[in-house]
Amino acid sequence: MKDLFEKTKIKNLEVKNRFIRAATWDEMAEDNGHINEGVMERYENIAKGGVGLILTGYAFISKGEQPNPRMFGIYDDSFIEEYKILVDKVHKHESKIAMQIVYGGSQSDHPGASGMNIYGPSAVKNIVTGITPKEATKEDIKAIVKKFGDAALRVKKAGFDAVEIHAAHGYLLSQFLTPYYNTRRDEYGGDIHNRARIIYEVIKEIRKRVGDNYPIMIKINFDDLMEKNPGLTKEESIEVFKEMDKLGIDMIEPSAANLSSGEGQTASIKGVNTIEKQSYFRASAMNIARQVKAKVILVGGNKNINLMDEILNTTDIEYFSLSRTILCEADLINKWVDNKDYKPKCISCNKCWDVVPNSCIFNR
Ligand SMILES: Cc1cc2nc3c(=O)[nH]c(=O)nc-3n(C[C@H](O)[C@H](O)[C@H](O)COP(=O)(O)O)c2cc1C
Ligand code: SF4
Repeated sequence: MKDLFEKTKIKNLEVKNRFIRAATWDEMAEDNGHINEGVMERYENIAKGGVGLILTGYAFISKGEQPNPRMFGIYDDSFIEEYKILVDKVHKHESKIAMQIVYGGSQSDHPGASGMNIYGPSAVKNIVTGITPKEATKEDIKAIVKKFGDAALRVKKAGFDAVEIHAAHGYLLSQFLTPYYNTRRDEYGGDIHNRARIIYEVIKEIRKRVGDNYPIMIKINFDDLMEKNPGLTKEESIEVFKEMDKLGIDMIEPSAANLSSGEGQTASIKGVNTIEKQSYFRASAMNIARQVKAKVILVGGNKNINLMDEILNTTDIEYFSLSRTILCEADLINKWVDNKDYKPKCISCNKCWDVVPNSCIFNR
């Protein structure tokens, strides 16, 4: 029997339980990406709440290219010292912390996006933001891959326990996988392995920079759930998962959808109010976990300990990540330690984005 509350090890990273705080953009950093007391306090509070591993909100890796305001930055070495302080605060409470890193692309919601240097796989206008990116040349792609490597090395130097590549939800790496946004005819477009080539290169570059024992995680769509336009499909993404496995990725967090998917399609599904609706990506994550050696994290609507326990013990899924429920109750995991039947307060209304900083209606 596997236990949700048991210690596990992924390379050098020992985690005290199988719960992960999913990456959550708090909208609390300074607009240049530097952090402040408020951020430190929020993360320390999450660490106190009992979660085994915290994924930071996404951090931008290129100064002139920031997909959202007040997100974390990791685009130069000036960030290393302040993140060391953040990491120490989290470690004090026996929680571990990994940083999620991102390159935005045309899905940028940043009000200053028009002045930014935004690349895409192809010069296709974004359905939601209206931004038409510059088609990245092979030289640009090389430079972006290197930026991921540089950022990952900074993450390691700052003492984070792992790094997570954000290749989900319609940001640049995700867009390369999406046929609607990637119409290239060179080796970065066309069949699925060509569209995934930039992701393979990012993984190889990061591995080269951080060494063999440092865990590399990836959050990546298994399906774009595009209603009208051609998107990544499950049949294609499984080939990417297998290839990433061969490249030695350590943990995979499969997610779905992007801003262009269409009405109601989102990674953060609303109204998760019955057991049937919970852990909503489990069928696909189960299928992926069966076919890869990497540890698979189930994200999306995880709200019930008994259901997660059953998934843990009847499938190859090994970890569970939670965003909104922990935004709502930072101490949720401790509450579950005391009472396995505790029902999280989060009602999956998605009103967390309505205010700055992002926060739960129950904590305002
Ligand atoms: C306020 C907010 C911010 C988010 N920020 C990120 C992010 O920075 N990176 C990311 O990969 N996903 C982000 N997500 C998506 C979550 O990580 C997660 O995939 C999704 O909400 C489903 O999990 P949940 O049902 O536990 O909320 C965010 C979600 C919310 C609600
Ligand atoms: S506002 Fe609160 S209750 Fe609503 S989805 Fe966000 S975290 Fe959950």
